[in-house]
Amino acid sequence: MRAVTWHGRGDVRVDTVPDPTIQDPTDVIVEITSSGICGSDLHLIEVMAPFMSVGDVMGHEPMGVVREVGREVTALKAGDRVVVPFNISCNTCWMCSQGLNSQCETTQNREQGMGASLFGYTKLYGQVPGGQAEYLRVPFGNTLPIKVPDAPLDDRYVYLSDVLPTAWQAVQYAGIPQGGSVLVLGLGPIGDMCTRIAKHLGAGQVIASDVVPERLARARRNGITVIDTTTQADVVAQVRELTDGRGPDAVIDAVGMEAHGSPVASALQKATAIVPDSIMAKVMQVAGIDRMAALNTAIEAVRRGGTISLSGVYGGATDPMPLMRMFDKQIQLRMGQANVWRWVPDILPLLLEGDPLGVDDFATHRVPLEQAPEAYANFREKKDGAVKVLLQP
Ligand SMILES: NC(=O)c1ccc[n+]([C@@H]2O[C@H](COP(=O)([O-])OP(=O)(O)OC[C@H]3O[C@@H](n4cnc5c(N)ncnc54)[C@H](O)[C@@H]3O)[C@@H](O)[C@H]2O)c1
Ligand SMILES: [Zn+2]
Ligand SMILES: [Zn+2]
Repeated sequence: MRAVTWHGRGDVRVDTVPDPTIQDPTDVIVEITSSGICGSDLHLIEVMAPFMSVGDVMGHEPMGVVREVGREVTALKAGDRVVVPFNISCNTCWMCSQGLNSQCETTQNREQGMGASLFGYTKLYGQVPGGQAEYLRVPFGNTLPIKVPDAPLDDRYVYLSDVLPTAWQAVQYAGIPQGGSVLVLGLGPIGDMCTRIAKHLGAGQVIASDVVPERLARARRNGITVIDTTTQADVVAQVRELTDGRGPDAVIDAVGMEAHGSPVASALQKATAIVPDSIMAKVMQVAGIDRMAALNTAIEAVRRGGTISLSGVYGGATDPMPLMRMFDKQIQLRMGQANVWRWVPDILPLLLEGDPLGVDDFATHRVPLEQAPEAYANFREKKDGAVKVLLQP
C-alpha cells in the first residue's frame, strides 16, 4: 500500500510499504478514506525527530471503512464506517474506565515511562504505524473504533479522532464559568476548535491570539475577538483591557512547545534553522526560540484564581516554570493528551443532529495522499491558507 513515511527533519514522503495484516484475533483492518494532518505531526518532523525512525508511517487522525475483522471481533463487520481515536486504548482497563484513555494500562509504554500508545507517533508512544496510509491495522476492534453512520461526508466525523475531543477536553479542563471569559492562545485547528466549543458550551467572552492572517480572519468570522500578536506584553495588555483589567477566567494554550531539556533541546537549533517564510519567521521570533512563550503568556494573562488548560504538547523534561508566580496567582493548571473516548458520548450526538461546530467546512484543504509532502509543507509554513488538511487516500 501507499503511506506517508518519515524520512528526517522536514522530510515526509509517500512510499510503498507492506499492507497491514490481522495479528491478534481482535484486530480490524480499516481502509482509510480521510486522514488529518495535525500540529503534532509537525513536532515529529521537527524537534521530536530524535524519537523517530526512517520509514515510520505517520498519521493519527484517520477514518475509513472496515475491510477485514479478526475472528473475535463481534462489534464490527466488513463495510462498517469507523473513526479511529489517536489514543490506542483498550476501553476495558481501570484507567480507561476512569475516562483516562490516554493513560490506558494495557498499552502504556512502561519501559519509556510514558502513557498509552498512539498511532503514528514516536518511540516514546510505541512507534505504532499510523493512519496517513491506504490501510491501518487497528487493535481492540470491539472497543476502540468509533462506529459512525454512512452519511454525510467524512468531514462530519473525522475530527472525532483528535481535534474534537482534544478541544472539548481543553475547554472542560479550562473550567470557564457560564458566561465567563477565556483566552485561547493559537488558532491552529486545535485553538480554532476550542473557540467554537467554548462558545457552544456557554462562555460569554471568547478571545484568541495568533499572527497568521487567515487564521485570525477565520476566527473573526466566527465572532471571536482576536488579538493580532503573540508578544506576551501586548497580549496581556489587550486581554486585560477586554476583561475589566482582571484577565480572563481561563486561558487555553493551544500552541505547545517541543524543546526544553535533554535530549530534545539539542534539536532546537536545527529546528529553528529551517524556518521558511516571513509568517513563520514572525512566529518563530516570539515562540520558536523561547518554547515556553505561550505558557508564560498564559500565566501572565490569566486572572488571579483562574485556570490554565494546556492542550499544546509539551515535550521537554526539565522546564523552568515560574512556580512562585503561579502559586502567588493561585492558578489552576490542567493538561494532558486528550482522552478521546471520554468525550465521544458528549460530542457524537451533536454531529448526528447537525453541525453546530462547523466541522463540515472546517478543512481548508482536501488532497490525495500522494500530495502529502506538499500538504505538510504548506501546513507547516502556514502557506496557501492551510489550517486543516485532510489527506484522502
Ligand atoms: N493534547 C492533545 O491531545 C493534543 C492533540 C492534538 C494536538 N495537540 C497539540 O496542540 C497544539 C496545536 O495543534 P494544531 O494542530 O492546532 O497546530 P498548529 O501548529 O497548526 O497551531 C499552532 C498555532 O499557534 C500559533 N502560535 C505560535 N506561537 C504562539 C504564541 N506564542 N501565542 C499564540 N499563538 C501562537 C501558530 O501561529 C499556529 O497558528 C500542538 O502543540 C499539538 O501538538 C495536542
Ligand atoms: Zn492530532
Ligand atoms: Zn485501557
